[in-house]
Amino acid sequence: MSQEETGSRIPKFAHSYWREFEEIPSFTGLQESLTTDIAIVGGGIAGIVSAYLLAKAGKKIILLDAGKLIDGATGYTTAKITAQHNLLYSEFIETIGAEQAKLYYEANSGGLKFIQETASELGIACDLTVQNAFVYSETELGKQKIEKEAEAYKTLGIDGGLATSEVDLPFDVTAAIVMRNQAQFHPVKFLAGLLREIERLGGIVYEQTRAMKIEKEDRPVIQTENGMRISCNKVIVASHYPINSSDGLYFSKLSVNRSYVIAVRTEAKIPTGVYLSADSPTRSMRAIPTDEGETLLMIGGDGHPAGRSKTNILEHYQNLAHFGEEHFGIKEIPYRWSTQDLATLDKVPYVGTMTASYDHILVATGFNKWGMSNGAAAGMMLADRILGKPNPYAEVFDPTRTKMEKADVEDFIKDNAAVAKAFIVGKLKRTVETADELEADEGGIVKIDGEKTGAYRDENGQLHLVSTTCSHLGCTVKWNDAERSWDCPCHGSRFSYNGDVLDGPAVHPLKKLDAE
Ligand code: FES
Repeated sequence: MSQEETGSRIPKFAHSYWREFEEIPSFTGLQESLTTDIAIVGGGIAGIVSAYLLAKAGKKIILLDAGKLIDGATGYTTAKITAQHNLLYSEFIETIGAEQAKLYYEANSGGLKFIQETASELGIACDLTVQNAFVYSETELGKQKIEKEAEAYKTLGIDGGLATSEVDLPFDVTAAIVMRNQAQFHPVKFLAGLLREIERLGGIVYEQTRAMKIEKEDRPVIQTENGMRISCNKVIVASHYPINSSDGLYFSKLSVNRSYVIAVRTEAKIPTGVYLSADSPTRSMRAIPTDEGETLLMIGGDGHPAGRSKTNILEHYQNLAHFGEEHFGIKEIPYRWSTQDLATLDKVPYVGTMTASYDHILVATGFNKWGMSNGAAAGMMLADRILGKPNPYAEVFDPTRTKMEKADVEDFIKDNAAVAKAFIVGKLKRTVETADELEADEGGIVKIDGEKTGAYRDENGQLHLVSTTCSHLGCTVKWNDAERSWDCPCHGSRFSYNGDVLDGPAVHPLKKLDAE
């Protein structure tokens, strides 16, 4: 297949392989106000793991999801479970120090161990296999960075090191580093198993129940979109981007990145191990064993700050397909999907009490693309905190930590400057198209009665109009042609073509306008 043909065979609609699993328990929406011990907002890995551990410890829990369970970042991941987070340890030794870096490594190794042991204990078949994890480079600069990382592995006592000759890739690399005995799995199968266990333990779960706000009374009270209230002793906010994000100014200390995945059929040998390139643009690879007995090759990467792609979104998928075609040859591309990841100021997630002044609301966010190990570790840390058990990692992950002076926050500051610019440029950008110019399945910002308006004409020719002002803090949203969504360049909120919230921090839809 030529590169042009490869690019043109990107599936028309995004579809995650993980979300194809059909045996996910489903639940109704909350229709009454309730009281409980612990309420957990967000049905991804961190929320489900903490719900499971708390229900297992005998706590009365309610788990809420604004949409469907395991349908946020957790359903659209690359599903590697590893403490090898690119070349983070050499950076961590310089920024947060060796002691904290080692605790971060141990916390993530603990997340991996929890998933392995729980899957085995509960008999959850989730395609989990032990894999060596590699970071490789094709450049001299990358080689130097990998050598520095190998020194960090020695300092921290990490099982691994330089392993250039062990790489199982069909192209030359200048260097590679391995972390041994990591894993990959099917996250939806695993978490569906945990949800069944939560139900069995008496936990209560609601879908299609959006938490809008948490009132900070003696006991916290969650207000839902349909006017219900949940009063409880503690709330865990595990909604990816935290709700109540103005509390503790979370939107000013989280950056949002969007990245892409394709899963392809190829006749070439699929590498053993899981891979990540240290070079830019990033490429991530692993095998996906399917229930039909075939093995797909997953290729991910091509990330950019959310809502701020320099090209149209489909090009990112095409870039991944070109890489796959060049190195493996592609027969077919049955799946494509994308996800949004949050990173904190110092790249260590925020896990613990949301603000120093009120300890009834706990948060887990900012997994910096490593949501499986960090998410499981976060669920364990939050459960320990609520159960009054000491956890050796609580201090490193404490969201109210003040010791960030040494952290390399320059990139983050640059990123926030770009946020501010997006706000201004977005507001001033001239709009030239009219809705009449839009073809079927095309969207963009048009002028209607002199007003800038978000417009999408669906495949049946029907026009859907929304305000382009983000309901979070008022930036101007941009059209995403690959996901048919409105994406905000400021803090990563996303909305469907008719304005419904897909990703926070926004909790209110875009204002819908009458197409007549
Ligand atoms: Fe904050 Fe849109 S996400 S302004």
